[in-house]
Amino acid sequence: MSYAIVGFGKVGQALAHAFARKNIEITVASRRPPEALAPQARAIGPTVVAKSLRDALEADTIILAVPFEEHREVANALPSWKGKTVIDTMNALVPLEEVDGLPSSAFAAKAFTGASFVKGFNHLIAAKLAADPVVEGGHRVVFLSGDDEDAIAPVAALAKQLGFAPVKLGKLSEGGALVHARDRVWGQLIFQDLFKTEQ
Ligand SMILES: NC(=O)c1ccc[n+]([C@@H]2O[C@H](COP(=O)([O-])OP(=O)(O)OC[C@H]3O[C@@H](n4cnc5c(N)ncnc54)[C@H](OP(=O)(O)O)[C@@H]3O)[C@@H](O)[C@H]2O)c1
Repeated sequence: MSYAIVGFGKVGQALAHAFARKNIEITVASRRPPEALAPQARAIGPTVVAKSLRDALEADTIILAVPFEEHREVANALPSWKGKTVIDTMNALVPLEEVDGLPSSAFAAKAFTGASFVKGFNHLIAAKLAADPVVEGGHRVVFLSGDDEDAIAPVAALAKQLGFAPVKLGKLSEGGALVHARDRVWGQLIFQDLFKTEQ
């Protein structure tokens, strides 16, 4: 399994720390060339490797950590997303009419035709996400949701590997609504920094 983070800002770097902590190889990319990202990637850890966006998109699993309005640009960079898993960390505080009345992740998923699309790692501010998720007596919870339930299991396995305790919320418009921003209102679980004693 290969992993890439697209978007190397606050959330992209926070998640790169999580991979580096566990010595798992992670490619990072943005619109800038890899040379521009390499010093920061190296500073996070030796398993964090900056590549071009095109090379990063060769990974099996792509973590989307770009501003919501940029997701189409990323989607258009590949002719087909079949066989890929996309993890959507984006929050979109946009009026409902801009997302056709859908949860923002369901709207974004339409651009990644064929991909297994899972929303996750989006409910905490980046600084919390960057911190070690294993504390005395617990593992930091991350919420996972998506309309393709089968897609969630491998993402939950990754979250566990990174030290988090994944909690599956189900479909985007059901349990997933709790971690969605909708028409400028945050879902009730956003910003809730929870821990479980077991993963
Ligand atoms: N900040 C938080 O605490 C937080 C928490 C939870 C969720 N989120 C969500 O996470 C996402 C990222 O937020 P952030 O705070 O990390 O943003 P950020 O610090 O502004 O970083 C965004 C990154 O995306 C890259 N980027 C922008 N357009 C791109 C494109 N078309 N293709 C490839 N890379 C592109 C930018 O780099 P280049 O300019 O070099 O391309 C930059 O590295 C957002 O959707 C946000 O809602 C943020």
